Amino acid sequence: MGKVYFVGAGPGSADLITVRGAKALAQAEVVLFDALADPALRDLAPLACWLDVGKRGFVHAHKQDSINAMLVRAAHEHEFVVRLKGGDPSIFGRLEEELEALAAAGIDCEVVPGVTAALAAAAASKRPLTRRGSGRSVAFSTAMTHSGELRAARSADSEVFYMAGRQLAALSRQLLQASWPAGTPVCVVSRAGWPDQLISDHRVGTLALAAVLHAGRPTVVTVGAAACGVSAATAPARTIAATAPDTRPSRGTVMPPASKRIESI
Ligand SMILES: C[S@@+](CC[C@H](N)C(=O)[O-])C[C@H]1O[C@@H](n2cnc3c(N)ncnc32)[C@H](O)[C@@H]1O
Repeated sequence: MGKVYFVGAGPGSADLITVRGAKALAQAEVVLFDALADPALRDLAPLACWLDVGKRGFVHAHKQDSINAMLVRAAHEHEFVVRLKGGDPSIFGRLEEELEALAAAGIDCEVVPGVTAALAAAAASKRPLTRRGSGRSVAFSTAMTHSGELRAARSADSEVFYMAGRQLAALSRQLLQASWPAGTPVCVVSRAGWPDQLISDHRVGTLALAAVLHAGRPTVVTVGAAACGVSAATAPARTIAATAPDTRPSRGTVMPPASKRIESI
């Protein structure tokens, strides 16, 4: 019986995987990977058998059972199995089902953490997720429920929404209903960690305008204190209390040359 290593691939470029994750890949005989993984990661395990088990959303829920079964079978046939997941395996990665399937089959496993998209977006936009005094709590939320309905809340000083890229107009409405003021800063980052990452600044009331910019790209939406540019973060109360859309360009943020940044839409 083999052992399964759940490895976080990070959000983009292969060099965002951890050293421990890369070492696990180097020993892997078989790798079950998701669609978001950078193909360059294959160079870290050139001799392994790579199996694409990528899926998107909840519509392919039945596929999870097949993945569970494939994992169990791989661990019966190989000593060293890697289950490579985008970002961090523990964040919106269906890890619990796969852990349960392995436990039920009596198969040993280990989880190697990775850089989740929210952290990559914070790094890309140079917006720290916590702020002294104004940003004491951060929530990672999925905007999509199991039934495919969109839901948003106000549960922390800053809220990072995953899986909302296709429904930014609806997210804006839900945020207003959840008592976020219309002028609250929102930072939208798509393909964070990739050379073509895209960053744009908005307000809760005008978030719908981000839809075209980020269409078809994996996107995270940061709302609240952590969405402020660092210079604005020194006066968060004023920024967050604003109710009218702010069309002034943000200051103090310099993006890497390869990144595209759209300011204050
Ligand atoms: C199924 S979740 C997986 C999250 C992953 N486990 C993680 O820790 O980042 C997929 C969602 O993560 C977000 N995401 C993944 N990669 C991203 C990236 N490079 N840039 C922005 N958002 C990303 C998007 O919201 C996407 O819809």
